[in-house]
Amino acid sequence: MLILGIETSCDETAAALVENGTKCISSSLATSLELHQKTGGVVPEVAARKQVEYITPVIAKTLEKAGITPNEAVQKIDAIAVTVGPGLIGSLLVGVEAAKALAFAWQKPLIPVNHLVGHIYGNFVAVDGFTPTEVVFPAVVLIVSGGHTDLVLMHNHGNLQYLGWTLDDAAGEAFDKTARLLGITDYPGGPALSKLAATCSKNLLAGKLPRPKMHDHDFNFSFSGLKTAVRVLVESGTVPTNQIACEFETAVIDVLEKKTFAAAKKFNAGSVLLGGGVSANLPLRTRIKTRAEKEGIALHVPPPALCTDNAIYIASAAFFNYTKADLGKVKADPSLRIVAA
Ligand code: KG4
Ligand code: ZN
Repeated sequence: MLILGIETSCDETAAALVENGTKCISSSLATSLELHQKTGGVVPEVAARKQVEYITPVIAKTLEKAGITPNEAVQKIDAIAVTVGPGLIGSLLVGVEAAKALAFAWQKPLIPVNHLVGHIYGNFVAVDGFTPTEVVFPAVVLIVSGGHTDLVLMHNHGNLQYLGWTLDDAAGEAFDKTARLLGITDYPGGPALSKLAATCSKNLLAGKLPRPKMHDHDFNFSFSGLKTAVRVLVESGTVPTNQIACEFETAVIDVLEKKTFAAAKKFNAGSVLLGGGVSANLPLRTRIKTRAEKEGIALHVPPPALCTDNAIYIASAAFFNYTKADLGKVKADPSLRIVAA
């Protein structure tokens, strides 16, 4: 089954063709990131306008890369999948309307995909240089992105149980806001903060920042206090920024590791999965890998290109989660709703 995936939840415009949820045939992505670097954050209206500009060329490029002409698309593509939320409403609308138009013109089923469920499927698709291995269920999934930090118990495809989430800032948001406090001007600041932290050979501040909720017996997170503690350190003016970056990154990873493996133990998970932009963070990947080896639990981590937003995992998630009802009834359903929460 060949699915055309479309993702426009924020500042990336992406399309991909994926076979049976597991093999990427082609993909294309455009981003308005450069514009947001100027403002130090995404301006929703600017992102939405760029989505309008990019959506048609990105879809056309994806078909072209797969060697499919627009006329052949109707025969070769079996369904259209699109991110319906969470995300920026103006950006989401562009992808959803494009997907609806194609589904209507080609008379194909339209499969709505939750962006966060999409992130999980970065672990299931083969792309250049990455071959996924079989996931043993139940799996504990840590989704760490710019807007969300979620722990999910995945009983199987289509059967997810939310264990916990952040009560305030998401992990990626905390990275980005802390980066600004440290004077980093890149947007998003997460990768740059991690690079700064890597210049620190020893964490001289070890334990100086809080590890919020680390010892609570629930699976929720909170990162806003950590950010405030960083501000106090910065304002003291006495500590080098690379030391603060290192201790901040370590504190976030300490919490993520503790909660993830506590959940894996409690629910007797067969594997641990990572997903979302922050799972591209090298120290996080290394720490989780070391712990998984120690606990003897299988670990699945998406390749860096499938951690951040793309349409490959949207098409994969659609394949593994559609129901017969989707295929029978959803055909260009004009009432398809956007979930903007
Ligand atoms: O999943 P994603 O691409 O978009 C959302 O759905 O939010 O995640 C973007 C987030 C940003 O906050 C970015 O700073 C963070 O992922 N991120 C990182 C790294 N790469 C991306 N944070 C820390 N270290 C990284 N290497
Ligand atoms: Zn995302």
